[in-house]
Amino acid sequence: MAISMRLLAAMIGLKIPIAHGHTFMQNPVPFPSQYLDNGPVAKDGSNWPCSGDTEYDRAGIANVWKRGSQQYLQAMGGATHGGGSCQISITLDPKPNRQSQWRVIHSIEGGCPIRNLTEVNYGESPTVLLPSIYNFTVPNWVPIGPVIMAWTWYGRWSVPEMFMNCAPIMVLGGPQEPDVPESVRLEKFHAAPLVFEANNGNGCWTMNQGNCVKFPNPGNSVEVNEECPLDELHQVTGTCGPEHVLAKQGWSGVHLMLYQAMAAIALVVGAYLGCLRVQRHRSLSHRSPA
Ligand SMILES: *[C@@H]1O[C@H](CO)[C@@H](O)[C@H](O)[C@H]1NC(C)=O
Ligand SMILES: *[C@@H]1O[C@H](CO)[C@@H](O)[C@H](O)[C@H]1NC(C)=O
Repeated sequence: MAISMRLLAAMIGLKIPIAHGHTFMQNPVPFPSQYLDNGPVAKDGSNWPCSGDTEYDRAGIANVWKRGSQQYLQAMGGATHGGGSCQISITLDPKPNRQSQWRVIHSIEGGCPIRNLTEVNYGESPTVLLPSIYNFTVPNWVPIGPVIMAWTWYGRWSVPEMFMNCAPIMVLGGPQEPDVPESVRLEKFHAAPLVFEANNGNGCWTMNQGNCVKFPNPGNSVEVNEECPLDELHQVTGTCGPEHVLAKQGWSGVHLMLYQAMAAIALVVGAYLGCLRVQRHRSLSHRSPA
């Protein structure tokens, strides 16, 4: 609580623009950068992952997870879109990028980030704490050390969009852990499903019209809240599934075009500077007769 109040104070102090009540993660405590933009993931994936954060200030990590311990997810912000479906995933990359693989440790189908909501939104406030708590257990195969956790969420009632917040986590060993080699645990980690991606430029779109996403590959730890229909036949369009993630698609069309444009500009500028240097060299040699 003290931490979130400090973050709120920082937000107000820095006059960070908070788009109307969009919901974002309150626990685990996200990177401060996540508050800069609480809108949905860009439709072309240009701010994927983690709202495009690249600084990843880990100073004073507030989230310490012992393996086997119970942790919880809780969000704030009134724009809850009638709940929806959420996933909690982890990457081992210290600075996640487009190629990072997000391994699912828990899925919540329906009723997330708020349960039993009869209205679409839970008021207007961007900072109201949502009453629902989602407990989950830290699997004993998550490698110890610093990792980055992501909360991803698809609303029940909305346009096709996805939300993602990231948090730094320090994973520690659990009490009475059996003597299982870390390499065996790491294998299990890499065998966990990849996070379900849609609406981020990967070619998959959710429908959201009153339906909640039923994840094609939710992993072993799943909470199902039947309050929302989980109609697999009417939940997505395009090419979807656990293997359709940006990490496996490399550069998107937009990124490729940007990259090519930048390369072309670099070439032109380089050639221009080259010309300048030659001219300057010539004029210098004119002025200083041998
Ligand atoms: C979450 O865990 C806490 C503490 O163990 C418990 O009091 C609470 O009822 C749990 N909440 C849910 C929704 O399971
Ligand atoms: C709330 O929803 C859950 C399923 O998400 C259901 O099991 C429970 O009975 C509901 N509670 C109330 C008070 O409606």
